[in-house]
Amino acid sequence: MGKYRKFIFVCTGSDCKENGCKSLLKDIDQLLKTDPHKGKWKVVKTKCMDFCKSGPVGVVNNEVIKRMKAEDLREKL
Ligand code: FES
Repeated sequence: MGKYRKFIFVCTGSDCKENGCKSLLKDIDQLLKTDPHKGKWKVVKTKCMDFCKSGPVGVVNNEVIKRMKAEDLREKL
């Protein structure tokens, strides 16, 4: 396993699954394959983070992002 500098946490709890966390994970994967981000981030799937009504939920740079989309991430990376 390579060395990662930073982590992106994405909830894969049942409510977030219903709200599309799988397609979010795919989009994030695509984004992280592009050049400036390559090898710098590790995506960690988590259990419920207790923001179920606002899913899919992720945490980047110690910040909770509700109704997360890959575009939101683009600004944060
Ligand atoms: S299921 Fe994702 S925050 Fe609860």
